[in-house]
Amino acid sequence: ASYDMGGHDTYMHKEIHEQAEAVDRVLRGRIDDRFSTVHLGGLNLDARDARAVRRVKILGCGTSYHAGQIGAQMIEELARIPADAEPASEFRYRNAVVDPDTLYIAVSQSGETYDVLAAVQELKRKGARVLGIVNVVGSAIAREADGGMYVHAGPEVCVVSTKCFTNTCVAFALLALHLGRTRDLSVRDGKRIIEGLRKLPAQIAEMLEQEEDVKKLAAQYADARSMLFIGRVRGYPVAREASLKLKEVSYIHAEAYPASELKHGPLALIEPALPTVAIVPDDDLLEKNRAAMEEIKARSGQILAVAHQEQEKADHTIVVPKNEDELDPILMGIPLQLLAYHTALALGRDIDKPRNLAKSVTVE
Ligand code: AGP
Repeated sequence: ASYDMGGHDTYMHKEIHEQAEAVDRVLRGRIDDRFSTVHLGGLNLDARDARAVRRVKILGCGTSYHAGQIGAQMIEELARIPADAEPASEFRYRNAVVDPDTLYIAVSQSGETYDVLAAVQELKRKGARVLGIVNVVGSAIAREADGGMYVHAGPEVCVVSTKCFTNTCVAFALLALHLGRTRDLSVRDGKRIIEGLRKLPAQIAEMLEQEEDVKKLAAQYADARSMLFIGRVRGYPVAREASLKLKEVSYIHAEAYPASELKHGPLALIEPALPTVAIVPDDDLLEKNRAAMEEIKARSGQILAVAHQEQEKADHTIVVPKNEDELDPILMGIPLQLLAYHTALALGRDIDKPRNLAKSVTVE
């Protein structure tokens, strides 16, 4: 496909900058202020069906899997339904137990990823209910699913996914709100989340204004041979996605780890040549994250924090606008897309078509 680059040098850059608009699209027409919930007619799930769900299992690959991990946390937090995400590629090979009370959700930008499609087909053969959270309208996974929602990110050309990731996270927030409001999520909390969602486009635009600062930081880290990304609970899937982004587009080795697991092994790696990116939201885990940064500093590790306020322990901080705690992961991913982009640019990489990768993996 070829679309106008709109003055950008790469599709990745263009797509990063389309995110405020894209998020506006995924929200449009779906918010119901009267009942502090959302309309998601395409789910084909009435309130009784929604209440009968005992567990949610989310399946996807790569970036879509990471969006699913963020989605699982949102569903647990807002709807209090046990939820988890798993790579579709693993799920389909382990003869998983298919449970009739579980709601399965397949996530895919292209809607054509073979491992996801095969997992959906296997689930349906076993009588499960499968929803699709998909970007490409009319794609194979969208057609195969029993219902679902489009994420309306618009065409994504760069092999490396950015705007679709963000929109998929927002789609999950809508789904979590919807499921929550058929259960115990109060009107007040419903309102709070809706207000948070409405703030996102302006906050994304505000975030993107810091591009020059992120570019300078990228220049400082571009000669690293490896980078560590850490986060805790809401921050952990953000760390995982940021690490994937950096690997894919800059070819720098990166590893993501829960900050809480540092002391169980990876602390041995810390030295000045291994920079750490720490995801530090201003939530109830702030002090714990500060303690992790202190451990790293004590071993002369360099730290770049992505946080809601300057972090004393870090060498540099990228300050992200604060939203509701549950929605924080959405905004925290964005400067890390810029970091991966500018690192790759500094290294002269083929940004829109990284070596060895295809936009969608439609074969086994
Ligand atoms: C994204 O940056 C990657 N290129 C890749 O991990 C991708 O997310 C994965 O292949 C799944 O693709 P899909 O969302 O189209 O199913």
